[in-house]
Amino acid sequence: PFEKLKDGLFSAPSSRESKDITGFNVNENDSTVSITVVGASGDLAKKKIFPALFALYYEGCLPEHFTIYGYARSKMTDAELRDTVSKTLTCRIDKRENCGEKMEQFLQRCFYHSGQYDSQEDFVKLDKKLKEHEGGRVPHRLFYLSIPPNIFIDAVRCASLSASSGNGWTRVIVEKPFGRDSESSAALTKALKQYLEEDQIFRIDHYLGKELVENLSVLRFSNLIFEPLWSRQYIRNVQLIFSEDFGTEGRGGYFDNYGIIRDIMQNHLLQILALFAMETPVSLDAEDIRNEKVKVLRSMRPLQLENVVTGQYKSHVRGGITYPAYTDDKTVPKDSLTPTFAAAALFIDNARWDGVPFLMKAGKALHNKRAEIRVQFRHVPGNLYNRNIGTDLDQATNELVIRVQPDEAILLKINNKVPGLGMRLDRSNLNLHYAARYSKEIPDAYERLLLDAIEGERRLFIRSDELDAAWALFTPLLKEIEEKKIIPEYYPYGSRGPVGAHYLAARYKVRWG
Ligand code: NDP
Ligand code: BG6
Repeated sequence: PFEKLKDGLFSAPSSRESKDITGFNVNENDSTVSITVVGASGDLAKKKIFPALFALYYEGCLPEHFTIYGYARSKMTDAELRDTVSKTLTCRIDKRENCGEKMEQFLQRCFYHSGQYDSQEDFVKLDKKLKEHEGGRVPHRLFYLSIPPNIFIDAVRCASLSASSGNGWTRVIVEKPFGRDSESSAALTKALKQYLEEDQIFRIDHYLGKELVENLSVLRFSNLIFEPLWSRQYIRNVQLIFSEDFGTEGRGGYFDNYGIIRDIMQNHLLQILALFAMETPVSLDAEDIRNEKVKVLRSMRPLQLENVVTGQYKSHVRGGITYPAYTDDKTVPKDSLTPTFAAAALFIDNARWDGVPFLMKAGKALHNKRAEIRVQFRHVPGNLYNRNIGTDLDQATNELVIRVQPDEAILLKINNKVPGLGMRLDRSNLNLHYAARYSKEIPDAYERLLLDAIEGERRLFIRSDELDAAWALFTPLLKEIEEKKIIPEYYPYGSRGPVGAHYLAARYKVRWG
């Protein structure tokens, strides 16, 4: 059953496994969930939110009674919304039966309401329509703010004052960016808290919903072989790598105000780092996990400019095709110094991680697309086989690679003997390749996060003190980069990025994996 929270809100129990097949164990006839996608005409809504909601519906994870409303300023009828949405829904389960039928049923539960984001009157009209669908059941309401950040507060004010649930819960999913530095983030939190309790705010970092990021704690805390090695005693360095093989195409206007450090490092990579490095939480409860993550963030040194390299992609011609420079984007100023690439060395000053470099690298328009965690272990003391392996010590150490995407996998590099009568050593991978091991497709991160928000599970969402701690690490650096107008190192579109990243890693005796 739902737990009653102190502020009158309701929260589902945290373990999805304890629920029935629908993942929703209230007396379903008594309640209903209304999901309003605010900014439904936008890119994210089409690309991620509606497809994720459909996948949840298809998998039987949505409650029996639910309604989805699209809300935006654009004029659209219900039929037009359904038509637009239908183009983006994929039968990723298309090998199964009834996908088309299910899609039609899902679309019949989708409606549209056109309104301004700052008009309480328009939200009152939305409220009236929601009530008609809720049919007297206990109404639970989820608002997904899929809009630019400058209108978050208006939308929250109007939704909370004019369209929040009376006797059910009201929750709001907020998309990043949560500000652009400590001050603006604190101001956003303060403004949100005028209308919402912290328990009602679900700050999304979709990397936390990725399968291999979720698996990180399972790997650490349920395998005897990893946790005892998880410290400065055995780990030489940790690398957190994000790269995309395309530029800021279409999002230059947004990106230029943020840059790669805010777009990827301060949130996605830092969140992974916190999960990777935290102490064992008291339980799997959201607050216990988030308490440990905050401790990691608060034990870290704020980033120093000398430990950071920035880059920006420039135009490159390959195979007769001209790939554009970042500043060729019409929405980006020609003289923009915004980094599209950054590498940084970070340190956690606590007993477990003292002196271990955590190296982050994130970039757009690079030679490949990947997100990975690489853990390089120390050398075997007095290794008997060193001479057989050769002089390159890097080649001889164990490495654990957690490939978040694409082609999800966990690889453990070990040394082994080449079969035969001689004694030659080789390096091989113990390989958990998800596609080979599991036939079921991996759900999109947004599916997991939306379901968690519906169920009131906060583990994968960012608490305000985590956010403050994250900004405290990056704000002084970001200000210095901007004040000093640091010129990024230019790298060709489709390359491996600036060579400075290699010098930075070499300073800490690290070679990027
Ligand atoms: P869009 O720019 O597509 O905006 C969404 C909708 O908001 C638009 O369709 C428009 O609807 C309305 N809107 C846009 N600009 C304004 C404005 N200046 N004033 C008022 N309304 C406006 O955003 P996305 O869908 O790309 O992203 C939504 C949110 O998600 C943003 O906060 C973004 O940072 C975040 N995000 C997006 C990702 C992506 O891949 N797109 C990835 C991660 C986060 P209408 O005109 O009909 O009202
Ligand atoms: C978003 C960033 O948060 O994550 C984008 O704003 C980036 O710039 C995207 O492209 C990457 O997400 P994914 O899931 O495609 O790796």
